[in-house]
Amino acid sequence: MKRILSGIQPTGNLHLGNYLGALKRFVQLQHEAECYFCVVDLHALTVPRDPADLREKTMEVATLYLAAGLDPDKMTMFIQSHVGAHAEASWLLECVARVGELDRMIQFKEKSKGSDSVSVGLYTYPVLMAADILLYRADAVPVGEDQKQHLELCRDLAERFNRNYGDVLTVPEPLIGKLGARIMGLDNPRKKMSKSAGSPANFIALLDDPDTIVKKIKRAVTDSENEIRYDPEAKPGISNLLVIYSLLADESIPSLEHRYRGVGYGQFKRDLAEVVVEHLQPIQKRYRELRQSGDVERVLAEGAERAGRVAQETLIKMKEAMGLLPRLG
Ligand code: TYM
Repeated sequence: MKRILSGIQPTGNLHLGNYLGALKRFVQLQHEAECYFCVVDLHALTVPRDPADLREKTMEVATLYLAAGLDPDKMTMFIQSHVGAHAEASWLLECVARVGELDRMIQFKEKSKGSDSVSVGLYTYPVLMAADILLYRADAVPVGEDQKQHLELCRDLAERFNRNYGDVLTVPEPLIGKLGARIMGLDNPRKKMSKSAGSPANFIALLDDPDTIVKKIKRAVTDSENEIRYDPEAKPGISNLLVIYSLLADESIPSLEHRYRGVGYGQFKRDLAEVVVEHLQPIQKRYRELRQSGDVERVLAEGAERAGRVAQETLIKMKEAMGLLPRLG
């Protein structure tokens, strides 16, 4: 059975991009593979955070994992910082990574641009991500398009490690969906939907209430035509809405184009808003129940145990291969 690992940062609001590019796919994959899903709180520390807010967001994301349909009997979910091996393996891999390759990371360049107080953690962030994946000897990593370069680095590090120290690590494949790997911002469909977007009009948060969802979709930027056609270059706004519709309603884009022939943008947006609300409402209801229940804490404690055992096994092999003396006695 194949192994899968992925993670989401507990920063900002989890939005439809995170859902369609990652979380919704996690829910499907748990039936097909041995899955590990973490909330990557250590990654969230790479920029300054309010500690109370970070704790709250970490619980929020973990609860959303379960509310969206992840099943503790089918997969293992945990908080990254609860498994100490991640930080330790990250150091080992930092000694394999090269400054030149980290210098080329687009996300680092974008996030550090114009700032004179960039943390070292932001720079080495992709190495910690590689540690997350390699510790579980994951065969595949479901992510959105924006993580592709980080996955390539992870593969390079695994290959280099194996070349230098023997065959210890599994080289993982990225699992990037054909549709939904890059959901675009509602306020600017030429840029991706983002948790750190300046305006909430950019995204639909998984916990947005129905009125907010209806308003945001109504105001979504489209074009001056009135034809519902999938053409990401010429019509990025409508194409993005078609992708969201298609994935949430499980109806193909050609079928939607056909059904909406001659129908105006207004009606299309009203229907889409209904689809989004109907999809998110059960998740939100379950989210509220879970937050009250105390179940999430229990699932996380068990998850950290299971994940810790797998991670520790790989970490010991990595350390031995690199020549670190095993603890005696
Ligand atoms: P993060 O927290 O930014 O995003 C979580 C997941 O959501 C995907 N995503 C999107 N997909 C489609 N359209 C969008 N607009 C969109 N925005 C985000 C991301 O690609 C991601 O899959 N570095 C990672 C977290 C991480 C990780 C890992 C992922 C840490 N360790 C190990 C996989 C494996 C990140 O910042 O994702």
